Amino acid sequence: MARQVDKIKRKLLLHCAVLLCVLLLFITSACSSAATPTRTLSAMQVAQPAQSTPQIISPTLRSLAQAHHFYIGTTVNVKALRYEAAYSATLAREFNMVTPEVSMKFSETEPQRDVYTFAKADYIVAFAQAHQMQVRGHNLAWYNDLPAWLTSGNFTRDDLIAILRDHIMTEVTRYRGQVNIWDVVNEAVGDDGNLRASIWLRGIGPGYIDMAFQWAHEANPQARLFYNDYGGEGLGRKSDAIYTLVKGLLQRGVPFDGVGLQMHISLDRYPNAQDVLANMQRLAALGLEVQITEMDVKTQDDARPMQAKLAAEAQLYGEMLHTCLSVAGCTAFVMWGFTDAHSWIPAYTGHPDYPLIFDGKYRPKPAYYALANVLSGP
Ligand code: XIL
Repeated sequence: MARQVDKIKRKLLLHCAVLLCVLLLFITSACSSAATPTRTLSAMQVAQPAQSTPQIISPTLRSLAQAHHFYIGTTVNVKALRYEAAYSATLAREFNMVTPEVSMKFSETEPQRDVYTFAKADYIVAFAQAHQMQVRGHNLAWYNDLPAWLTSGNFTRDDLIAILRDHIMTEVTRYRGQVNIWDVVNEAVGDDGNLRASIWLRGIGPGYIDMAFQWAHEANPQARLFYNDYGGEGLGRKSDAIYTLVKGLLQRGVPFDGVGLQMHISLDRYPNAQDVLANMQRLAALGLEVQITEMDVKTQDDARPMQAKLAAEAQLYGEMLHTCLSVAGCTAFVMWGFTDAHSWIPAYTGHPDYPLIFDGKYRPKPAYYALANVLSGP
């Protein structure tokens, strides 16, 4: 009898132990799932996000720039904006200025003579308005990205004047009140310092530059009007030619407000920051505004390991932003994209590249932190 009681006792004990184990397991799993969000959040803050969701980075470049009353911007690829949630979320979170990458160019906006298509540009402008971002309109008079009807047409000087006038008036008027900064004339100076051969220079003559600014001003007297170019960021033949050109505009009383320094550079070719500073200062001394408008850093020609390349890239981003911030007239720092997933460089060069501040999965690169660091300064 005593043996039977013992057996029952042992069985009961065993059941209790199993029950206890199940209970313990349940409690542990409940605790761990409750802890997950906190852990994920702190992991996100140190930039290790889930791949499909953008990260929460605090403070953002945008909030840091805002504290300086400064614009931090990027170009926008309208397709990515429409279809990639991580793209639009990162864009809205990190930037307070946008430049449509192609959607406001001539071939996009007037594909047939007098037939205007603004749907893509409208989409970007609406996004910018919804997120309180400034738009840099880009661009109105350029030698490139022109529609076939224009480049293959046989136009007189008067025709070309009418075409350019109508284009500028129509586009600038459409976005009056929404787009208040325009790259009116883009890349009009060649690498040799002479005016670049373009349909406008050939057909109208050098006066097309003054005309373009006049028309843009007529269409939106509130807009700040820029001349924008590459390769003239530091000191040298091209930046001297740009300086002479814009000084001439001012002397002739052409409505004109600022110079965009594109800053498409590469790890093995970039202007000296001291020269950029001196150039910005001489432009600012003319009373002009200066903006860095298209920065990216080509990395493909550098043979160092990736980590070293990303560090060098970060250094350049930080230096150029710092230079801009140290000149009172430098009011914006805009990059030609923000994620390596959507840079124009691989298509342009035919090689992969990593020129921007977020990687292809929207994770911030060292260059992002270099900018944040500069913006966190005094
Ligand atoms: C580039 C775009 O990024 C490409 O997608 C397009 O095919 C060609 O133009 N300077 C400028 C920009 O002012 O408009 C250019 O953008 C890059 C160089």
